[in-house]
Amino acid sequence: MRAVVYHGANNVTVENVEDPRIEDPNDVILKITSTAICGSDLHMYEGRTKAQPGMVFGHENMGIVTEVGPGVARVRKGDRVSIPFNVACGFCKNCFAGNTGFCLTVNPNFAGGAYGYAAMGPYRGGQAEYLRVPFADFNCLALPPGDELEDDFAMLADIFPTGYHGTALADVRPGESVAVMGGGPVGLMAAYSAMLIGAAKVFVVDRVPGRLRLAESIGAIPIDFSKGDPVMQILDQTNGDGTDKGVDAVGYQAHGTGGEEQPALVLNSLVEIVRATGRIGVVGLYLPSDPGAPDEHSRHGELLFKAGKFFEKGQRMGTGQANVKAYNQQLRDLIIAGRAKPGFVVSKRLSLEEAPDAYARFDRREDGYSKVVLKPAA
Ligand SMILES: NC(=O)c1ccc[n+]([C@@H]2O[C@H](COP(=O)([O-])OP(=O)(O)OC[C@H]3O[C@@H](n4cnc5c(N)ncnc54)[C@H](O)[C@@H]3O)[C@@H](O)[C@H]2O)c1
Ligand SMILES: [Zn+2]
Ligand SMILES: [Zn+2]
Repeated sequence: MRAVVYHGANNVTVENVEDPRIEDPNDVILKITSTAICGSDLHMYEGRTKAQPGMVFGHENMGIVTEVGPGVARVRKGDRVSIPFNVACGFCKNCFAGNTGFCLTVNPNFAGGAYGYAAMGPYRGGQAEYLRVPFADFNCLALPPGDELEDDFAMLADIFPTGYHGTALADVRPGESVAVMGGGPVGLMAAYSAMLIGAAKVFVVDRVPGRLRLAESIGAIPIDFSKGDPVMQILDQTNGDGTDKGVDAVGYQAHGTGGEEQPALVLNSLVEIVRATGRIGVVGLYLPSDPGAPDEHSRHGELLFKAGKFFEKGQRMGTGQANVKAYNQQLRDLIIAGRAKPGFVVSKRLSLEEAPDAYARFDRREDGYSKVVLKPAA
């Protein structure tokens, strides 16, 4: 089959790899209909993770089941399913508690597995024609048959639940104000989720014009950080009080106004923006090691975080990979009911063969490349 293969910094190609096969009785094989490129892939693409050459990327997968292992009870051949980016077993302590992003069974390196992601276990990604899904009864989310709402459902594998998770970590309540740092697909989904929950005022901070326009189109207040300190801009628009809650949808590759990387910038901005006793949800990625970091400390994931201010303000922070399964059924049902349309972020639908060009353009945050969905089956 054809697949997107990583070869080193800024180098992915589409090539022939071995077809996946049933390796365990609980596996299914999926024919991929939609697989999205994520900001998380860009950290690997830029050589800023431990990703090894030869890896197949792709953790935002959906498709049609083509083969079913003998131990699978519920999923059937022909089912249309969305696959959470987390690989999870369903029976460990963390899975039982709903924390499927921290499964203790699937990854020898640390708690939590994913498809096609550096250090997150031996699972090949789905930017390919076919994908093997382990523990299929637990991991497959059933979708209505056919091909309706494909863009919306394609957002269920990662960014819609992840954006929602950001608001859940920050405990966003109706009527509150929320600052979302980052207007990439994840930030837009966090802002959209905050709206669904009933937040009164949602700010989205970024500098890419098309992304700020999208934020405005869903009713958020765009803040362009290239036009001045976003902390001051948001304090000005909240009577100097700051917001009730904040979401980090940027992570360690945060840029300062001058374009230089400052790994702790967004965390520290949120400590300033969010009011005393407010909460901060961090879904933007931070890593324990970063080979391309700007200084020695951040190469080991040690950042200059304003712990003193954070303590003084009595803030709370939640972090980590999103537990997609904690939200994907409910968010799917909101889509089916016509109450949520997360597919508004999708800006391009391309063939698998177009992936290398799409990676380069998305990496430059070119307008029109906010969320690219690849269509291997088309
Ligand atoms: N926790 C999870 O489960 C999870 C899941 C998916 C993605 N992520 C992470 O979420 C982050 C965002 O992903 P994305 O797909 O939206 O990608 P993205 O990289 O396109 O979005 C990041 C955005 O942040 C903006 N930005 C950069 N510096 C900024 C600053 N100082 N202030 C405000 N905005 C700034 C960029 O212009 C960009 O638009 C990534 O770190 C990704 O790895 C986490
Ligand atoms: Zn993703
Ligand atoms: Zn588990």
